[in-house]
Amino acid sequence: MVFMNIAIFILFFIFVSLFFGALFEAPWLPTRKKDYHRIAELTELRPDTLFYDLGSGTGGMLFYLSRKYDANCIGIEISPVLYFYSKIKSLFYKKVNIKYGDFLKYDLSKADIIYAFLLPENFEKLKKKIDTEAKNGAKLILSCWPLKDDNSIRISKKEGEISYYVYITQKEGLRTKRSP
Ligand SMILES: C[S@@+](CC[C@H](N)C(=O)[O-])C[C@H]1O[C@@H](n2cnc3c(N)ncnc32)[C@H](O)[C@@H]1O
Repeated sequence: MVFMNIAIFILFFIFVSLFFGALFEAPWLPTRKKDYHRIAELTELRPDTLFYDLGSGTGGMLFYLSRKYDANCIGIEISPVLYFYSKIKSLFYKKVNIKYGDFLKYDLSKADIIYAFLLPENFEKLKKKIDTEAKNGAKLILSCWPLKDDNSIRISKKEGEISYYVYITQKEGLRTKRSP
């Protein structure tokens, strides 16, 4: 009986933790593995690139990018279970660093590429943060939904699949001129 209670408590903790992000910018839903390469192709990843995943979940994409492109990756995750899982895994990856907490409280000024798979109602907060913090030329990649009233410089669309939108920061903040 004691064992069952402990098991129920652990399962409940894991369940709550997976949906914990919904209290902030999004619940947990991983980017599909088959899209990792598509996302990487939207940018020029090099060994000196600093790639951020805001709300990094299990960190799957970061581990892939580090393995395949030798990129420096930082994930920020607010859900304790997802954080611990990815933090432990990151111990085996020299160039992946997982941080705990609310990404809105972290400095993004060194990022070259910022990836976010979040609910669109939170994009305004994210845009404001990037406008004030991100360096000139940093790229933002959004999964699923574009920024309101903004044109991305690039879109990756596939019939029946998730779309990805790319933006670039310029001196005055996030500017979103579509390339010709
Ligand atoms: C839709 S999932 C995307 C996971 C991962 N980026 C991926 O693409 O596989 C959103 C993640 O963001 C996390 N999250 C939500 N709000 C956050 C916040 N303010 N700070 C850090 N993480 C957050 C959630 O816990 C969840 O893991």
